[in-house]
Amino acid sequence: MSVVYSIGIDFGTSNSCIAYATYYDRGNGKVDPHPVRRPEAISFHHRDTIPTVVFLGDGKGQPPMFGEMAEEKAPFYPELTRSGFKLHLGRPDTGREAFLLSKQFLTYLRQRAAEFIPLDDKDSFSRVETIVGHPVQWSADQREETRRAAEEAGFPNVRLEEESLAALYSHVCEEGAGFHPRPGSRILMVDMGGGTTDFAFLEVPSKPGERPESIPVDPAPAIETWGEGQRSYGGRDLDRLILDYLAREWEPELVQRHRQSLMREARRFKEVFSNHLREGADRYETLWLVGDDPRKVRLTRAEFEQMAAPYIAHFELLLRGALTEGKVAADQVTHLILTGGHSRWYFVDDALERVFPHLKTSDRTILRHSHPEQSVARGLAYDPVVRSNAAGILAPTRRAAHAVWLSVPNEGQSLTSKPKDEPVLLIPRGQQLPFQTRKPLRLRVEQLGVDAREAQVRIRFYSGERHRPLADRIARFERGFWEQLGKTFALRLPWAKQATPDQFEVLVACQVDEHELITAELLITRYLNGKAIDTQRQKMKLSNAAA
Ligand SMILES: Nc1ncnc2c1ncn2[C@@H]1O[C@H](COP(=O)(O)OP(=O)(O)OP(=O)(O)O)[C@@H](O)[C@H]1O
Ligand SMILES: [Mg+2]
Repeated sequence: MSVVYSIGIDFGTSNSCIAYATYYDRGNGKVDPHPVRRPEAISFHHRDTIPTVVFLGDGKGQPPMFGEMAEEKAPFYPELTRSGFKLHLGRPDTGREAFLLSKQFLTYLRQRAAEFIPLDDKDSFSRVETIVGHPVQWSADQREETRRAAEEAGFPNVRLEEESLAALYSHVCEEGAGFHPRPGSRILMVDMGGGTTDFAFLEVPSKPGERPESIPVDPAPAIETWGEGQRSYGGRDLDRLILDYLAREWEPELVQRHRQSLMREARRFKEVFSNHLREGADRYETLWLVGDDPRKVRLTRAEFEQMAAPYIAHFELLLRGALTEGKVAADQVTHLILTGGHSRWYFVDDALERVFPHLKTSDRTILRHSHPEQSVARGLAYDPVVRSNAAGILAPTRRAAHAVWLSVPNEGQSLTSKPKDEPVLLIPRGQQLPFQTRKPLRLRVEQLGVDAREAQVRIRFYSGERHRPLADRIARFERGFWEQLGKTFALRLPWAKQATPDQFEVLVACQVDEHELITAELLITRYLNGKAIDTQRQKMKLSNAAA
């Protein structure tokens, strides 16, 4: 019988983890639910996780390095070390560098994975599937870039999965821990990582045979900000607060110069401090080497609670905001699943107790993984079992975390009296996925093309209520010889504004898959002097924002 290898990649802001499992193939995309080999994390320098850090190499004999080795280089080569880049994926300005770093980092993971998984053999008896996790709140482009980075790193058959669902899968599938949500359960999944805190509900229908549904909620925009207008809520935000507090009396230039390595020191300090508090201690102190200068750093519980009060209080606001947005009363929540290193804080437990007094770790209504740093990667490696509907729950369906808008701007000097490029709503937030436009959207565009050789139409997608632009999708038409000549001539004239405009009729049919990846099929007709002269059918995926 042939074998399926599944690789789960938890590509995290601060730490990443990669796990793999093997199953017997049952055909039709299904696997035998009893793994030949249960998901197991691949170790890096005897640790189950690897810091998401890249040392670029110095071009003078020191090659690029990854993980812990890269982290060790950071104090000496701050300008050649990169961390936290995951959060920049899909951004218009820093997205390209983030993509290249992610790809380079994932290529390193692939190299290590190939020691355990036949990634390079052309063995027809096995199939390899790669499942990469992403935060629930990621936009279509951030998802697409994550997938593309893994694909270009050489992982085969790459699919995506929400990190919080992956954490659920590891609870449902792990032997011994087997958690079987009953019909009618409503599970709140909270993933507290280095960069983000994500919330999603999983609703298990009362009717047997119906698939559970994952409903992402984003409480952040509706609640007050913390600190000075801060909306982001991850471990790194707390590192920053702690560093600013501990270094409050140090020379600002010194802090600025060593900011990167001090942030790392602050993170380590924070983790030990958090563990100490959990164990009942009320303070922690240690020495930091700042340049060549050892400095004592010390924090008490009382100082922390005063200094971080708005941050600590914010978690409860987020929890309550998630309930409001999901239109769920606290006592309707039957289970809570917690993941992410940042959820180890004592104040997280305190807030949970206040908001959900009926849920307890002791009766397994609050679930935390015994190896929290591995739970997402292992859950991802269970994905083939879940998709085979053999995990004790049916494979969940998903709802869109973001609205998607579309516009075809009248670019250049518009010749119509008023450019009409207001975005049109394509899918609302909460839309059941996958989704397909019922009939194509019809848009007319008229623009003064300024390129003599080709005419271009740019399709713009926007994400969320605040219309955050996603990468453009562009269709290009080569102009005919005579038109090129005419255009070149017309564009040189001072009265070029009167040159013939490019006119298009664009029919857009969109598909949004269950992971919110957008593909659009366009039928574009180009008109010249009112006559249709060219038609193009195009399948458009995310264009090369980062290519
Ligand atoms: N014992 C601890 N107490 C408090 N915080 C901790 C502890 N251990 C780890 N953390 C924090 O958890 C965060 C890392 O969590 P995790 O590894 O789940 O995030 P990530 O996957 O890298 O990020 P993301 O999921 O946002 O991309 C860091 O900010 C880290 O400092
Ligand atoms: Mg994570």
